[in-house]
Amino acid sequence: MARRALITGITGQDGSYLAEHLLSEGYEVWGLVRGQANPRVPRVRRLLQDVRLVRGDLLDQGSLISAVEKVQPDEVYNLGAISFVPMSWEQAELTAEVTGMGVLRVLEAIRVCSGITASRGSSAGQIRFYQASSSEMFGQVRETPQTERTPFHPRSPYGVAKAYGHFLTQNYRESYGMFAVSGILFNHESPRRGAEFVTRKVSLGVARIKLGMAAELRLGNLEARRDWGFAGDFVRAMHMMLSAAGPEDYVIGTGRTHSVRELVEAAFAAADLDWERYVVCDASLHRPAEVDLLCADPKKARTQLGWEPTVSFEELVAMMVEADLRLLADGGDPEQDSSWA
Ligand code: NAP
Ligand code: GDD
Repeated sequence: MARRALITGITGQDGSYLAEHLLSEGYEVWGLVRGQANPRVPRVRRLLQDVRLVRGDLLDQGSLISAVEKVQPDEVYNLGAISFVPMSWEQAELTAEVTGMGVLRVLEAIRVCSGITASRGSSAGQIRFYQASSSEMFGQVRETPQTERTPFHPRSPYGVAKAYGHFLTQNYRESYGMFAVSGILFNHESPRRGAEFVTRKVSLGVARIKLGMAAELRLGNLEARRDWGFAGDFVRAMHMMLSAAGPEDYVIGTGRTHSVRELVEAAFAAADLDWERYVVCDASLHRPAEVDLLCADPKKARTQLGWEPTVSFEELVAMMVEADLRLLADGGDPEQDSSWA
């Protein structure tokens, strides 16, 4: 019998790569989709044809119980979230509900459907749970590089909501004996990245300038540093965590950090352009509280899971710029599905 996985956030960047990876491993993959006429669902149906869809919303406990009852998964990957950090200041309560309380609702759906109570813990054959935790929880970092033991100091409502989900996952593991783990993932990108995130904003901006479709690119803080990796590498780590002998949390990142300025330089250079002629610094794009520096220490994942990233920062930037040059040259719409080809 094929193992069965249920993925929340199937319409997002990571959902697509994880679904492809699990299908290639012989899984039956189900994706949770929300809304009555979600515009991203046709894209999922077209590009992830072997994925089955089930309706549900992280805001709706009953819908999650119904989804778990219907799918009867062996593994649940909770990738659904409001994931764009600036939006979390504009809609802080919604972010708390989706990104934070959504974790509680998925864990409760698993607990209720599995008949787990405080006195009657889980047993063999239990549903394994993966929570998409984030390096954004480290926020104003206490040490560099960051490990599984680095204390959290989140700097946005998003980071606070993720910290809640992280501790709750740990608590359900300790309270109920559930196989529930968190991957503390550092930034990971791809040609499927949402256009609002800085890497994709830059790769699309470079492509537009190169093709004569734009004259400038407006950006915020160029000094922030991130540990950027390739999303395809990072979803393998999620699967490895749920395939491990025991439930443990892991930091996943490349261990290398680059500034937004270095990202910009590399992306414009990949298209033979001088970035200083085109980039405009826009103070309105600065955040109320910034995370200045993130850099992972992925030693535990390397030694215990055998996980290694395969795509370097330079290869990632070139991959994204080339993909966006092709996409726009072919008349594609970055907000639609072409970038998923
Ligand atoms: P993404 O592209 O923004 O996708 C977010 C997903 O969440 C979408 O499928 C979205 O569905 C879904 N969603 C939003 N609200 C929902 C709701 N109320 N109910 C159900 N689903 C809902 O994010 P990503 O980059 O793939 O990241 C996946 C997860 O990893 C997120 O939890 C993110 O916070 C976390 N993470 C990401 C990174 C990174 O660098 N990418 C790093 C660390 C952690 P719709 O299409 O319906 O909106
Ligand atoms: N988005 C954006 N747009 N960011 C900019 C811009 C801009 O115009 N200019 C500078 N930046 C800086 C931001 O201030 C931030 O320091 C950095 O670029 C990265 O921003 P994002 O790409 O939006 O990602 P993020 O680090 O805030 O969050 C992403 O990674 C987290 C993991 O660390 C998201 O994927 C989160 O969901 C994820 O948890």
